Amino acid sequence: MSDIASTPAPMEGHGGYNRSSSVQAAGSSPTLPLFEQAAAAVPLSSSSEAIVIADYGSSEGHNSLAPLTAAISILRGRIGPERAISVVHTDLPGNDFCALFRTLDSNPGSYLRGDAAIFPSAVGRSFYQQILPSSSVSLGWTSWSVQWLSRLPGPIPDQVQVAYSRDAATRAAYAQQAAEDWRNFLTSRGAELRPGGRLVVLTMALRDDGDFGYRAAVETLYEALLDLVGDGMISSEEMGRMAIPTVARSRADLMAPFSENARFAGLSVGHLDIFEGEDRIWEDFQRDRDAHKFGARWAAFSRASVFPTLAEALDGGLDDRQARTFMDKLEAANAARLAEKPEPMVIPLASMVLVKEGC
Ligand SMILES: C[S@@+](CC[C@H](N)C(=O)[O-])C[C@H]1O[C@@H](n2cnc3c(N)ncnc32)[C@H](O)[C@@H]1O
Repeated sequence: MSDIASTPAPMEGHGGYNRSSSVQAAGSSPTLPLFEQAAAAVPLSSSSEAIVIADYGSSEGHNSLAPLTAAISILRGRIGPERAISVVHTDLPGNDFCALFRTLDSNPGSYLRGDAAIFPSAVGRSFYQQILPSSSVSLGWTSWSVQWLSRLPGPIPDQVQVAYSRDAATRAAYAQQAAEDWRNFLTSRGAELRPGGRLVVLTMALRDDGDFGYRAAVETLYEALLDLVGDGMISSEEMGRMAIPTVARSRADLMAPFSENARFAGLSVGHLDIFEGEDRIWEDFQRDRDAHKFGARWAAFSRASVFPTLAEALDGGLDDRQARTFMDKLEAANAARLAEKPEPMVIPLASMVLVKEGC
């Protein structure tokens, strides 16, 4: 049985996340120009040493291809075709790194195509600590990853997503963990970035009116879990342990470490914007009126990103014989409920550019 204070599970493996993460890809796309601008502005030494780009929380890599290709193209315009570029993809130890390297090898949009001087590698360690050498990274990218907490602060008595819980003590515990994790993340990146280096962050956020969004997806997921308890698929104790360890941060949360002297861990904020991601699933539904497809796509989104973490709460953990059946049934129940009443999803996001001092 998994411990309630465990670390989150990675995304669904075997290409599952790559296949069902179009919501994340669409949400990140308005941030690509910020990464290109960072690639254009970052100071580069005149030596021939490799330029290091880090991709924090890469999962299986598909959604990293567009931002990395864009930034590498800008860098190539500055340094020419010969100089080595090292791309380091980082994620949790249990991430499916095989799927990542297959994606880099075979995807037609891979940044490796036509460039023999790019050297990809991977680090399987939590990014809430320093995981790359000090002052080694020129450019950092992280999308849809820092909303994942380093650990579950505890069960959520009335929900699976803390943003919709009415329990004040639980909300406070998750907020405190999120604040601590954000400071640790910034401290570690501050150590890894070179002077003048830049980190572009895209993460789940709270709208300025406090809305977390995804209301229908979260509500139907909770109801679908109750269905599975009712069917005897899972026990109420197992459901009681299920919690999604993600926290969306407000503008104030993101700025909190910088409030005293505008600098934190040698970093300053070059840009911060809270915006809403495009809901392409809803846009497609408005065109085709296919409610079944609408439900299936949002259920697949939840499956690929949060079901493995929920399955960790089964008596046998993620390796439980029933884990796959649990995920299949939860996906089907969730899809059916979402198809009953399609509605647009609010997708609040934050984009941020952090600049390392010293240049
Ligand atoms: C939703 S996926 C985002 C993947 C991709 N960057 C994208 O934009 O679609 C979040 C990723 O962050 C990773 N992650 C969560 N917590 C992490 C941590 N503490 N250290 C490293 N990676 C982490 C997860 O394993 C997962 O692969």
